Amino acid sequence: DDPATDPFAVAATAAAEIALKTGVEKHDIALTLGSGWGKAADLIGETTATIPAEEITGFSKPALVGHSGTLRSILLPSGKRALVIGARTHYYENHGVRRVVHSVRTAAAAGATTMILTNGAGGIRETWTPGTPVLISDHINLTADSPLEGATFVDLTDLYSKRLRDLARQIEPTLDEGVYTQFRGPHYETPAEVQMAKAIGGHIVGMSTALEAIAARQAGMEILGMSLITNLAAGISPTPLSHAEVIEAGADAEPVISALLARIVAAL
Ligand code: 6GU
Repeated sequence: DDPATDPFAVAATAAAEIALKTGVEKHDIALTLGSGWGKAADLIGETTATIPAEEITGFSKPALVGHSGTLRSILLPSGKRALVIGARTHYYENHGVRRVVHSVRTAAAAGATTMILTNGAGGIRETWTPGTPVLISDHINLTADSPLEGATFVDLTDLYSKRLRDLARQIEPTLDEGVYTQFRGPHYETPAEVQMAKAIGGHIVGMSTALEAIAARQAGMEILGMSLITNLAAGISPTPLSHAEVIEAGADAEPVISALLARIVAAL
């Protein structure tokens, strides 16, 4: 987090370490697998290397149960290479926004031109029962922070690629889409905050992804974002939220949504 260090140089170092440890010079696609999506790593192809995250510069052991804590190199049936990131640093961990987007910048430095960002999140639409996967169509960043430093003015139009959303809907035509609202967390929102998110155009509430997507756009990557609705947001849900329920909903939905994501990756 030293302002004198260049975050892109740190990412380049991490990418070089990944190339060395995996024996793969260039990865084409990167996936960050959030709560409920981890099984996709086993379905998309053949894992040729698994690295504990803490062995790579800038990465650390995950703070969360349900994250694997590894980086995996996977050979897809198409011959393309995927880098699967099972170690996300959340903004609420207070390591600073550079650490939050380090995995995305590392993926870009490793050669990835497609970034798939997934998460477990709360739903604002009553029709989204726990276990529903939703495409992210756009986001509202309520962290009041940005991974861009200095006068870096980056356009965020079509941030979550329309082309990739359409492709996902070719695989699963019933997929809904919605606007992801990133709150800082780690507390869940109050019912009033959920009403605010709804009023300003949000459909999904979560604690990740938006800052990562901004960094991925800066790096020129094409982005696919998907949320697993693990629960209805506070006030929409008739009962209080618990992290245990979030984890449980994620685990129940995991086989289905992981298979869906694997079919989408195969179609890329
Ligand atoms: Cl309701 N809010 C946020 N911010 N993140 C969540 C969630 C809610 N449910 C799962 N993750």
